[in-house]
Amino acid sequence: MKNNITVSAPGKLMLFGEHAVVYGLPCIVTAVDQRMWTNIIRTQKLTIKLAAPEVKIPKFEADINIPLKKVPQGAKFVFAAVKNFYKEYKVSSGLDIKTRSDFSSSFGFGSSSAVTVCVVKGLAEIFGIKISNKALFDICYKTILDVQGVGSGFDIAAAIWGGTLYFVGGGKKIAQISKENLPLTVGYTGVKADTTTLVKKVAELKKIKPKVVNSIFNLIVLIVEDAKKLLKKANCEELGRLANLNQGLLEALGISTFELSNLIYASRGAGAFGAKLSGAGGGDCMIAFAPPTKTSKIKKAIEKHGGTFLPVKTGAEGVRVEKINIKR
Ligand code: MEV
Repeated sequence: MKNNITVSAPGKLMLFGEHAVVYGLPCIVTAVDQRMWTNIIRTQKLTIKLAAPEVKIPKFEADINIPLKKVPQGAKFVFAAVKNFYKEYKVSSGLDIKTRSDFSSSFGFGSSSAVTVCVVKGLAEIFGIKISNKALFDICYKTILDVQGVGSGFDIAAAIWGGTLYFVGGGKKIAQISKENLPLTVGYTGVKADTTTLVKKVAELKKIKPKVVNSIFNLIVLIVEDAKKLLKKANCEELGRLANLNQGLLEALGISTFELSNLIYASRGAGAFGAKLSGAGGGDCMIAFAPPTKTSKIKKAIEKHGGTFLPVKTGAEGVRVEKINIKR
């Protein structure tokens, strides 16, 4: 049993298969080298004290049993994660939790899933409980569903396993494809997307046009399966082609935006083999497959079109217990 632990987990970028994965289909996700850090200290008082400045929670303290609806939005994942862990392992203690993120929660890098993974992994360390990655995934995925209501769990898997993963919705299959840094350039639109709203938007379209939307999902599956093979060989040109195809289908689902398309076209014009939005759509980030020799030209094109270039490496390490605590 430990009294003070720091855990970190990576953010993620969806490469192929967003939205389809919500319906139990496969996707490909990669972990990025920007991480979420969480320090947990055991306390005597039976409360959870949280400081999470990156989600605008400078300080929030409440009884462990506080109903989730009374917890501020930014603190919900932490409180739900603690509750689920205590229920599963029949343990309890007061906690003082502090988080710090290498990345902005607006990027869509999955700060909620990364913090959820950090908290559950940290609690397992604190209480001396051996937890497999799959058991960690199950508690964290339940936490995401408790708070958000929707989600495939792909972001949780990326935060736990790291690398580049083939993931089937709900965690039916999780397989590591590679741990290499991929030839990717990332641009942020400056617009924060709301995943739940966009997932509901696609669900609505699926209800109105089920045959068309299911056919689009089937095409997305073909792209994901093809990408899985190409990623093993890191075939940049072919991956770019698949990114363009996937983007066309996401446009058809109505979740791309002017800002995303603007950066996507700019990147293609600057020499990327292909580009697409990454994640729920509606804003957040786009990714371009391009050799490193083209990065600087694509960066300039992204900036010229109102975006922010994000220097990230992919295939990063999954959740890990840190030797050094984060500053309080
Ligand atoms: C959001 O980043 C990706 C979606 O597929 C939702 C999910 O898989 O949880 C839209």
